[in-house]
Amino acid sequence: MPINRVLVIGAGQMGSGIAQVVAQAGIPVVLRDVEDGLVKKGLAGIEKALGRNVDKGKMTADEKAAVLSRITGVVALDAEVAAVDLVIEAASENPAIKKEIFTALDAVCPEHTILSSNTSSLPITALAAFTGRPAQFIGMHFFNPAPVMKLVEVINGLATSPQTFAAVDELVTRLGKTTVKVSDASGFCGNRIMIPMINEAVYALSEGVASVEDIDNVAKLGFNHPMGPLALSDLIGNDTVLAIMNTLHEGFGDPKYRPCPLLKKYVAAGWLGRKSGKGFYDYAAK
Ligand code: CAA
Repeated sequence: MPINRVLVIGAGQMGSGIAQVVAQAGIPVVLRDVEDGLVKKGLAGIEKALGRNVDKGKMTADEKAAVLSRITGVVALDAEVAAVDLVIEAASENPAIKKEIFTALDAVCPEHTILSSNTSSLPITALAAFTGRPAQFIGMHFFNPAPVMKLVEVINGLATSPQTFAAVDELVTRLGKTTVKVSDASGFCGNRIMIPMINEAVYALSEGVASVEDIDNVAKLGFNHPMGPLALSDLIGNDTVLAIMNTLHEGFGDPKYRPCPLLKKYVAAGWLGRKSGKGFYDYAAK
């Protein structure tokens, strides 16, 4: 059954980006967060991103209005809001919060609704176990910034049905993105490769191998990466990078994944990157 209506849970950086992608593909989407202020902030971010596209001549003002008209912001999670074919959860990476969300969704969504999570670190099989519909539960891992990055890792839990995978894979194609099917292992595939690279860059910084700018220049000029690992850590959020490193460390029990003490220190100081105004770079004045 094709997916024709979507609910996104969480109006932060990832949730609002995903809602924008869905609406741009012509699909009605409900964007839900727990406070009206958070919903408004998410919608304002989408409007700003679409406005940039209009300014660049990549979209007309009418197209922008049409995309925005497909997005409904809500706080309540009732039967009307939940009457969708697919839910994409993009809330905090906190198992207790996710349990609360998926228990509520399982109770209020129609029987046919597929539940998915954009988690970057929690096992899909364990999240599916919070619901009575593990066959209709799947991982949909978007990359940041969601409107730009073409990859979606699609992760089957132990009980995910082939029908659920097929419906989500078809949607990913309609969103103009590419599915990579990965198994439910710590860090999936993308973060298993990328997050240890960032962690190693922080070790290089802490050992005085090179400066922040020069470490990033190595990746930009030496590997043709669009941005260096420390700038990328600031974009993702240093707290998220640390959480994923901890997941890899615990998940594999291998000391090669130990988080760099300097990364822990940055997080303890609240130097989380772009979202806090300071990380490896300063953003406050920008
Ligand atoms: N939202 C929407 N669009 C955005 C955007 C955002 N936050 N940031 C940039 N863009 C768009 C710009 O509008 C621009 O679009 P056009 O080409 O249509 O004009 C395009 O992206 C390029 O942007 P800029 O010219 O401003 O800047 P740039 O060329 O330096 O690109 C970047 C910015 C896209 C972020 C690029 O630096 C990049 O690709 N960086 C690497 C990002 C990356 O590795 N992401 C993966 C993170 S890991 C992850 O997400 C998984 C996880 O679980 C942690």
